[in-house]
Amino acid sequence: METTFLITCALLCLVGSVPSAPRRYGVQQYDKDLFHPTDFQRTARSSRYTTDEEGSGYWIDGAQKILINHLKEVHNTNRARNVIMFLGDGMSVPTLAAARVYQGQLMGETGEESHLFFEDFPYTGFSKTYCVDSQVADSACTATAYLCGVKGNKGTIGVTASVDRGSCEGMRNQSNQVSSLLKWAQDSSKSTGIITTARVTHASPAGAYASVAERNWESDADVASSGQDTSKCDDIAEQLVFGSTGKNFQVILGGGREGFIPADKVDEEGEQGKRLDGRDLVQEWQKQKESSGFRGQYIWNRKQLLSLNYTNVDYLLGLFEGSHMKYHLEADEENEPTLAEMTEAAIKLLSKEKNGFALFVEGGRIDHAHHSTTAKRALDETVEMAKAVKKAMELTSNEDTLIVVTADHAHTMSYSGYPTRGNDILGLAGLSDVDKLPYSTLSYANGPGFQPPERSCNRHDLTEDNMKTDTYEYPALVPLTSETHGGDDVAVFATGPWAHLLTGMYEQNYIPHVMAYASCIGSGLTACSNDKR
Ligand SMILES: *[C@@H]1O[C@H](CO)[C@@H](O)[C@H](O)[C@H]1NC(C)=O
Ligand SMILES: *[C@@H]1O[C@H](CO)[C@@H](O)[C@H](O)[C@H]1NC(C)=O
Ligand SMILES: [Zn+2]
Repeated sequence: METTFLITCALLCLVGSVPSAPRRYGVQQYDKDLFHPTDFQRTARSSRYTTDEEGSGYWIDGAQKILINHLKEVHNTNRARNVIMFLGDGMSVPTLAAARVYQGQLMGETGEESHLFFEDFPYTGFSKTYCVDSQVADSACTATAYLCGVKGNKGTIGVTASVDRGSCEGMRNQSNQVSSLLKWAQDSSKSTGIITTARVTHASPAGAYASVAERNWESDADVASSGQDTSKCDDIAEQLVFGSTGKNFQVILGGGREGFIPADKVDEEGEQGKRLDGRDLVQEWQKQKESSGFRGQYIWNRKQLLSLNYTNVDYLLGLFEGSHMKYHLEADEENEPTLAEMTEAAIKLLSKEKNGFALFVEGGRIDHAHHSTTAKRALDETVEMAKAVKKAMELTSNEDTLIVVTADHAHTMSYSGYPTRGNDILGLAGLSDVDKLPYSTLSYANGPGFQPPERSCNRHDLTEDNMKTDTYEYPALVPLTSETHGGDDVAVFATGPWAHLLTGMYEQNYIPHVMAYASCIGSGLTACSNDKR
């Protein structure tokens, strides 16, 4: 139906029956600056910013404070006992900028001056996210880069680019497999853990423990539906429970129960399993810990997480949803912990190991929210990740813990227009001087938020929409079922031992090399082998 409508509309435009069809305007139309018109449609001046900002003192004092802080900085060359990586899936630079405004506006401020907790880290850099076979990356090949230190092909995890996507044979060849920062930490007797708000078998966390030619092989049912032999080609859930890295994790927290239980069983919340091999990997995980003389605790809701007695637990498996965990805005408080709560639990448990720990924490649903062009959810998930980073900082010491916050790839959300200071970041930026219709500050290059033109061939009128809902789909230029990733660089924020090595612009696979160097693990250069200590 939509297609018929589009065609009708295109025909109407062609025959020129619509006088108000948008016209391109020429330079001569403006005698001043065409590119920065002064008569741009403006919203009212915000009265919310402090009058201090009108003077010079506020700005000079602020800048001098930053300067003094930087002058006080000395490179921290301690050995990092602990390393923590926070990964905002799809957390592009415009996402950071918009999320900080959203955070400030939630507190009744103008917002622009706000900062996400980790934006105050002393060192920042940029990482180039492309993969061996792709200009714009996905979460699988980037996980191989930022966790294993090697770039591979799109869709593959924990294997080199000699493995084509979907090649079971290629992934089984051990000389094509690469290991992760968490494996290197285990080899140095550190405790390790993974946390995500997505399924624990999803691409990003899988980079910590799996070697797989297809990111979608999360359960044996997925392997089988690709026509592969499930006895040869181990699915990701199986690798998490039995693989040489996965079986050693003291902490596994996130969603994704479906990949662990049989298709003819339902989980604690009545959701159906996916496995075709009839195995219950949650039970097998518990038996495995027990038979090695450890106390393995399986939990599935928030109450159980918050009431854990850490002295009685050696290994923790928490699966809080059948699939991904719910968006924070929609989460059921009874059952779903926040990312900060999961981070706190993990650090408490992992800290029992005197040799220190390596922890991977993913804000996994920033990406999903962007794919749906539901910008508000993406910003909210970003703010939630910032809270988790703050919690980690409170529970560790900057003297011995390296914390890195980054993203795997960008998205197409743009933050644009000339809205006034303090304008609702989720609202309208002004009116177009061409079609006289409003446009939003946040919009996407593509995705489901595309709206076909009206019958008059005019652009869709956004004032007809209810932009206040959490699920509002922001406008997109090109219609796609799922908005795409972006190819732009992503930011890296670092604090703690050797964090200064992450300054600059580099390939994404450099990041775990620095984390290994700082904590004296892995097979490359380390701060210890370098005789710096
Ligand atoms: C395993 O992979 C290596 C490196 O890609 C390759 O040289 C070798 O031929 C492969 N072995 C088999 C049995 O395919
Ligand atoms: C935790 O368990 C230990 C050992 O069983 C016990 O001594 C302690 O009282 C418990 N702590 C709490 C807060 O229940
Ligand atoms: Zn994505």
